[in-house]
Amino acid sequence: MKLAIADPPYLGRADRWYGEGRGSGRERTAGGYVGSAHRPMRKPDHHAEAARWDDPAAHVELVKRLSAEYDGWAVAGHASSTGLLIAAAPAGAQLAIWGRPNAVPGGARVVNSWEPVVLCVPPARRDRATGLRVRDILVAPVRRQGFLGSKPPEWTRWVLEMLGYDPTSDQVDDLFPGSGSVAAAADGMLSFAKNGECS
Ligand SMILES: C[S@@+](CC[C@H](N)C(=O)[O-])C[C@H]1O[C@@H](n2cnc3c(N)ncnc32)[C@H](O)[C@@H]1O
Repeated sequence: MKLAIADPPYLGRADRWYGEGRGSGRERTAGGYVGSAHRPMRKPDHHAEAARWDDPAAHVELVKRLSAEYDGWAVAGHASSTGLLIAAAPAGAQLAIWGRPNAVPGGARVVNSWEPVVLCVPPARRDRATGLRVRDILVAPVRRQGFLGSKPPEWTRWVLEMLGYDPTSDQVDDLFPGSGSVAAAADGMLSFAKNGECS
């Protein structure tokens, strides 16, 4: 089957994190981005059209594209985009939650510690008889990997398990590779399956 994982820039942070905007305590210099003299940050990749993802319409279009082009898909977002992602999703799509116990508090009194994953499991993989069961909640810490917005390997494995990923026959498109962490975790599942076949 043809599957996709889409982890676009967060609505409202796209230009600031990946484009021309300034913020997050970082400055863009000839050598890249820096946090402070005491806590330098590695530059995340830069995309000339990052600001496009600060428009809610881009996220709605992405969900429509995923629905049209893939047998199964998952799209990540910030908690504040949950409503618009669900509203754009087709019947049968569902919401899963990534709990981030070590999320850095923002300016709000009630600290946001989760992110949504809206996903459409291929219909043939929805019944409990079709594969291993997996819960729609993951609690896993954010890893400071030096790349803003990167996902921990547990996240990728969880998303692929929910999609019923079969490494021997499925194609997975990682639409926003960023640090490459999604592909790396998915490749790990592939080598695991190959090892399983050999033993
Ligand atoms: C949330 S990050 C992806 C993180 C990745 N999943 C990981 O775990 O490392 C979003 C990525 O989208 C890229 N991006 C920004 N604007 C884009 C655009 N207009 N088209 C495609 N990619 C874009 C950013 O540079 C960044 O690499």
